[in-house]
Amino acid sequence: MTLTPRHEPVELAKCYRLLNHGPVTIVTSAHQGERNIMAAAWAMPLDFDPPKVAVVIDRNTWSRGLIEASGRFALNIPTRAIASQVLAVGSHSGRDGDKYAALGLDTFLGDSDLPLLSGCAAWLECRVLPETAMQQRYDLFLAEVTAAWADPALYSEGRWHFPSQESRTLHYIAGGAFFATGESFEV
Ligand SMILES: Cc1cc2nc3c(=O)[nH]c(=O)nc-3n(C[C@H](O)[C@H](O)[C@H](O)COP(=O)(O)O)c2cc1C
Repeated sequence: MTLTPRHEPVELAKCYRLLNHGPVTIVTSAHQGERNIMAAAWAMPLDFDPPKVAVVIDRNTWSRGLIEASGRFALNIPTRAIASQVLAVGSHSGRDGDKYAALGLDTFLGDSDLPLLSGCAAWLECRVLPETAMQQRYDLFLAEVTAAWADPALYSEGRWHFPSQESRTLHYIAGGAFFATGESFEV
């Protein structure tokens, strides 16, 4: 744990806005001295207040065991600047070695003991809801968001604003191909 990037709290009732545009996420987890990190494109908001999210955590991931054991995970929303790390944490398993160390990833702590990844635009700390049948049948985890944060340079007053190409959030297609989030407009 070294760098603490700029992160300001996001009002929980409006934290769905961090995920509403469908960005790829990075799931961080920790349990009893072990920690892990993986990519997850299949994450979405589920409710306003209390805020909830849904995310698919495949049964073959090493993250799955840590998340089931701790009952917690964080959704980190990466920027284009770290797209190669998104692909890397989504292409290797923590079973084969610590991805944070291998990739030189910096983290900081939010309200819980979960590592939050530096270089991201926003972070949602989540507590798993007891929906074990859904987890076992569909690999689908429902969770309540207990804390939400954003870099105020990229998200403030309930709106995203990307000052550079590198600061844009990401959308995943497959095979290492991404879109960067485009220009916003209002109607
Ligand atoms: C961009 C991207 C998005 C991904 N989305 C998901 C996802 O939504 N759910 C999932 O279970 N795996 C997803 N994966 C695959 C996991 O990130 C991958 O299996 C990872 O190696 C698991 O790491 P672990 O074994 O250390 O937990 C994705 C991979 C990439 C590259």
